[in-house]
Amino acid sequence: MSTEPVNVDEFEELARQALPRMYYDYIAGGAEDQHTLRQNIQAFCRITIQPRILVDVSKIDMSTTILGYRISAPIMVAPTGSHKLAYHEGELATARAAAAAKTIMVLSLASSYSMEEVASSCNAIRFFQLYVFKRRDVSTLLVQRAERFGYKAIVLTADTPRLGRREADIKNKMIAPPQKNLEGLLSVKVEVESDQGSLLESFVNEAFDPSLCWKDVAWLKSITSLPILIKGILTHEDAIKAVEVGVDGIIVSNHGARQLDFSPATVSALEEIVHAVKGKVPVLLDGGVRRGTDIFKALALGAQAVLVGRPIIYGLAAKGERGVRTVLEMLKNELEISMTLSGCPCIKDITRSHVRTNTHYDKLHSML
Ligand SMILES: Cc1cc2nc3c(=O)[nH]c(=O)nc-3n(C[C@H](O)[C@H](O)[C@H](O)COP(=O)(O)O)c2cc1C
Repeated sequence: MSTEPVNVDEFEELARQALPRMYYDYIAGGAEDQHTLRQNIQAFCRITIQPRILVDVSKIDMSTTILGYRISAPIMVAPTGSHKLAYHEGELATARAAAAAKTIMVLSLASSYSMEEVASSCNAIRFFQLYVFKRRDVSTLLVQRAERFGYKAIVLTADTPRLGRREADIKNKMIAPPQKNLEGLLSVKVEVESDQGSLLESFVNEAFDPSLCWKDVAWLKSITSLPILIKGILTHEDAIKAVEVGVDGIIVSNHGARQLDFSPATVSALEEIVHAVKGKVPVLLDGGVRRGTDIFKALALGAQAVLVGRPIIYGLAAKGERGVRTVLEMLKNELEISMTLSGCPCIKDITRSHVRTNTHYDKLHSML
């Protein structure tokens, strides 16, 4: 039997075999009981696709535009930290794969290679993901560097005033991987005692600014001319605030279920956010996207694109740059099939009426 994976999920098993336990647990895990982690996947399963027949689908065009940048399909690389844990070429390999797939990579602030090294390694369209530190001067410097090195937008991650409780990382005493972007800028004392839990958690809780709030978006706008996307929105209330403070886009995200357990599955929160935003800014989504049909469903509910997190790292761990390319190709191919079989030749043909969320299953559960 061939060991070549035939879908994105099969990459997870290859990654599990390839990685030390501590790293696999860190990548795969979610917060506390991991309820939201499961729901991110299961919420997609509760949505059905309503296909239309006898539409000319001899040509399928998956291309779309995000903040003015043309990409081959509405599938972007989510910001995830420390790619060297998965593969020695880390984000350099990921960026090359994103470039080959003609899509956007959001580079994590917590990358293993510096943003300058990633910028010079490929011609992928890159956005830079920002965490705001207590040391605001450090965050300012990072934004300025991102602008200078050709990053096209800032993705402000707003769901991490402190790290979620990831119990496998606590048990494993997860290391705090080196953060190349912070070299020479920030040294945070992390107690390395044997009875200490996750060292990553200690680092985040020491360095990140928990006082960050809505008015700080004005501060961020004052230090950069790049468009700003806000990542971590899960309610229509916050979506309205985000539009009011003038962000250029919203990413519906629960951080891959790694922060607040029992926060909603992202695809369940999507539609109320899309309604609240009223088309004023693009709405993107991440969390649990594993199939082309998931992407189709998110688009039908109003997302302009999705981002994928773990599958990219699994691809990297299993087969390096080629693995990431394959993961992106698989998702593109599956989206193409979904569009063909649903009678949607272009992205704009995918509409709300192509999915049904109020399924028999939901009705039964609402009675419980
Ligand atoms: C190992 C790992 C590291 C992550 N690191 C970051 C990060 O540095 N910054 C950030 O904004 N989100 C980070 N995330 C969250 C992702 O950007 C994204 O929201 C999430 O992975 C999407 O869910 P998925 O993994 O089910 O696709 C991380 C997620 C994982 C799994």
